[in-house]
Amino acid sequence: MNTPFPYEYIADDKSFYGRKEEVLQIKEHIKNSTNILLFSKRRMGKSTLIKNVFSKVEKDFTVIYIDIFNIITAKDFAEILLKGITNAQKGDITKTIKQVTKILKKTRIEPTFDMRSGKMSISPVVLNSTFEEIIEDAFALLFELAKKSNVVLAIDEFQQISTIKEKKIDALLRKYIQEAHNISYIFLGSKRNILNSLFQYKAPLYEMATPMLLKSIDIEEIYDYSKKYINISKDTAEYIYTLSDGETKLIQMILHKAYILNAKKNETTIEIIDDLLDEILITKNDHYKSLFEIFSTNQKKAFKLLSKYKVELFSNEVLKQEDISRASMQSSLNQLYAKEFVDKEDDIWFIPDRTFELWGEKVLNS
Ligand SMILES: Nc1ncnc2c1ncn2[C@@H]1O[C@H](COP(=O)(O)OP(=O)(O)O)[C@@H](O)[C@H]1O
Ligand SMILES: [Mg+2]
Repeated sequence: MNTPFPYEYIADDKSFYGRKEEVLQIKEHIKNSTNILLFSKRRMGKSTLIKNVFSKVEKDFTVIYIDIFNIITAKDFAEILLKGITNAQKGDITKTIKQVTKILKKTRIEPTFDMRSGKMSISPVVLNSTFEEIIEDAFALLFELAKKSNVVLAIDEFQQISTIKEKKIDALLRKYIQEAHNISYIFLGSKRNILNSLFQYKAPLYEMATPMLLKSIDIEEIYDYSKKYINISKDTAEYIYTLSDGETKLIQMILHKAYILNAKKNETTIEIIDDLLDEILITKNDHYKSLFEIFSTNQKKAFKLLSKYKVELFSNEVLKQEDISRASMQSSLNQLYAKEFVDKEDDIWFIPDRTFELWGEKVLNS
């Protein structure tokens, strides 16, 4: 859908706003071939930010973006990596195949027709290769690319490598990343506890990347951008920001709906925003209900209380309301944490999906 406020698709250059400081910082890392660990909870704009930076630097650097959210085996990881690096080859197909074939030890390359772009491209064939062989070929090709121009390799949903137990992907990566080449590695991820353990002291990736926490887009920037398309006051923009708890995706959803209302004419009031949020919660109702239904009884109680009382969760008054013991509250929260439905920071529990939290607050507690 054509909207100045995309929330389901990555914002293109025209609808991307804010993040000036972050763009500069990332560009600096890319120029110096240093590595970044870009993290935040989901829906804040990590993938969007990296893709936007890539669109800005792809003239001067070779940019490679891979997303490993769906890897099940170590070989899946290796294949996605090799595919990403292979696709980054520029220029004439026949020539490229020749050059690439010289570098690859085990992988065969074949020309393929890309339906989406309508262009010919090349694809690696790795049927009979092992995980190690594919990784070796991938990095050989990457290092070769880095001889021609600086390279940036972004790996999205990086925490997924921790689900793979059969191979030590992090240790292997360390070996290659340590080699000095003109390459900047960007690891993106959203599960803080897992990322922490991947990059902690004595872990293979310790000190291999500068951590960068992606915060909310600046409220000034949100206001400046949205008032171009919507008749909105600063107060209302701030109201949306607070209501969304700074979560980019929810901010975008609300702004999009306000835009659709033709709010360039009529002022977007706080009452309108409340109505729009209700609309969003209604469209999400089936989804959240089915998530909630599979919670255990104690998990339901814990989630319901957490969505209403952010702090004081363990006080007798709060526990009494749902007749749940302190120990059950604790273990239920831990179970929900393992499934990513709740999160905690400095020992304060919260629901990271702001829309789900608002649903809990309004639907469960009404
Ligand atoms: N700087 C931005 N400008 C405009 N829209 C953005 C921006 N950052 C994120 N968004 C929108 O918010 C949504 C969520 O962003 P996404 O990059 O998927 O978050 P994450 O990768 O952190 O989970 C996307 O649909 C995107 O269009
Ligand atoms: Mg993402």
